[in-house]
Amino acid sequence: MAARGVGMLARLPLCAQRSQVLRPTHRLLSCPGTVAADAKREEQSSRSVETGSEDRTPKKKFSEVQKERREQAQRTVLIHCPNKISEKKFLKYLSQHGPISHHFFYESFGLYAVVEFCQKESVTSLQNVTRTPSMGTEAAIPFKSRFFNLKLKNPSSQTSEKSSIPCSNHSPPSSKKLSELLCYAESVDDQLNTLLKEFQLTEEDIKLRYLTCSLIEDLAAAYFQDCTVRPFGSSVNSFGKLGCDLDMFLDLDEIGKLNTSKTSGNFLMEFQVKNVPSERIATQKILSVIGECLDHFGPGCVGVQKILNARCPLVRFSHQASGFQCDLTTNNRIALKSSELLYMYGALDSRVRALVFSIRCWARAHSLTSSIPGSWITNFSLTMMVIFFLQRRSPPILPTLDYLKTLADAEDKCIIEGHNCTFIRDLNRIKPSGNTETLESLLKEFFEYFGNFAFNKNSINIRQGREQNKPECSPLHIQNPFETSLNISKNVNQSQLQKFVDLARESAWILSQEDKDRPSPSSNQPWGLAMLLQPSVVSSVSLAKKKRRKPASERIKNLLESIKSHSPENDTDTNGKRTVSTQA
Ligand code: GTP
Ligand code: MG
Repeated sequence: MAARGVGMLARLPLCAQRSQVLRPTHRLLSCPGTVAADAKREEQSSRSVETGSEDRTPKKKFSEVQKERREQAQRTVLIHCPNKISEKKFLKYLSQHGPISHHFFYESFGLYAVVEFCQKESVTSLQNVTRTPSMGTEAAIPFKSRFFNLKLKNPSSQTSEKSSIPCSNHSPPSSKKLSELLCYAESVDDQLNTLLKEFQLTEEDIKLRYLTCSLIEDLAAAYFQDCTVRPFGSSVNSFGKLGCDLDMFLDLDEIGKLNTSKTSGNFLMEFQVKNVPSERIATQKILSVIGECLDHFGPGCVGVQKILNARCPLVRFSHQASGFQCDLTTNNRIALKSSELLYMYGALDSRVRALVFSIRCWARAHSLTSSIPGSWITNFSLTMMVIFFLQRRSPPILPTLDYLKTLADAEDKCIIEGHNCTFIRDLNRIKPSGNTETLESLLKEFFEYFGNFAFNKNSINIRQGREQNKPECSPLHIQNPFETSLNISKNVNQSQLQKFVDLARESAWILSQEDKDRPSPSSNQPWGLAMLLQPSVVSSVSLAKKKRRKPASERIKNLLESIKSHSPENDTDTNGKRTVSTQA
């Protein structure tokens, strides 16, 4: 899943993104058997599970969250609305088809409404009174989906009553706004938590992600009845930043599963099927057809690319109405299991997500990660590094995967393609860590730890939670937690790794200086995390030297020399920009 796309919303110029910002809105209307207050409480509690905050409500299993959200998405429709619309009339009109449990509006090249009915039948009822548009000279493909276009019968009458519709916002904060927020924070811990709050997926964004998968599932189901399209990766593992891509996989495993209670007697019935030489060819054929289908019939699906010769074949496309860059694969159960594991780690301790988000933002700010596939470290690898680091604390903040396996019971047993992916799935049975380190200290220690890690001989391994000898010579070796013979960071080259190490050392040094010299919050000077997100001299020096095309070893040697020769008092110039720093 090398998809590193940025959603359409995120690709808008920042000023345009900010102009869309209005107050997020949750509207809960009454629904048979559910009072609005209950629904809101339920929603808040499911949010707190996904965000891993420490409250006393029992934490839901990943599979429970997925099931609940999928079911909600199946009762939901997406409507492109005229800009001038009366919200009250709109809801009254839709309520003819049944009670609505939740709705929100958002803007993305037009106004959209996401409307969740209490019952699935309401969607069918709405579809039954919806017409296919007549197109004049063009021709419409008459595909009946849950993505509608609302037209005003009499635009002038509604215009006069228009009130501005509150829209939910799916854009991350601008760098200026983030910088301001971080400067006004009270401590580095506060800064990390602020960054998490600003970048984490909102309730509406999560709902829209599940809805998008559900809309694609409707399309795929035209060929493969009973198939499921499941989101995975950062959309569901609790580490997704606003604007992250939407990874989804077409799950065909449930199709034709034998229902043993209905198979008595002497006979066994099987479907007639076509055979192809390998699983890979089957995947390529299926994705090729679904790709064509998305391209030709998928409302709102644009820029469809079939990347079928990749190690993991995929179809990439933009879902214009949601603004998501989507990657659709099939047979990706291990990746879903990895998402479940990361979700568990994210929910076990509230420091985990705060640290991962900051490291991801730090890496992005210094171009250590990129939206284009290449020799860069990926967000997935960075998350593994944070988890590994937290397993190495004393006492550990996170348990090893092997330990989680020892806690598993029979129901947790999971073997995928011969790989043992078993671990305990009930979060409530895992004892919280006794470690009380602050986020500030953990951030500094993270940079110290990886700034001095023996990458040349050791591998990172969250299964055992300790360094191991590298089994192969890639510069960075992070063992795939389930397919243990694979290295998830095989793509990273020596120069990217060195850049990471240099920046980690520089950041550790900056944080250690900060203790001594913190500006007052009102001075508007970047400090703490805000300072770490500033352009770095390590990377700009590397860039300048790269242009002169000196050999890599010489560039690195010079860079280290230059770092060592600078005194600490020269580290911050009058503009608050970082200059040079060192941490041997
Ligand atoms: P973003 O950068 O926010 O998209 O993070 P992400 O975790 O979604 O990463 P990405 O879209 O690249 O990949 C989606 C999922 O595929 C990850 O969460 C992993 O579960 C899985 N994945 C990604 N890269 C690898 C890899 O190199 N090896 C394996 N086994 N799985 C991977
Ligand atoms: Mg992703």
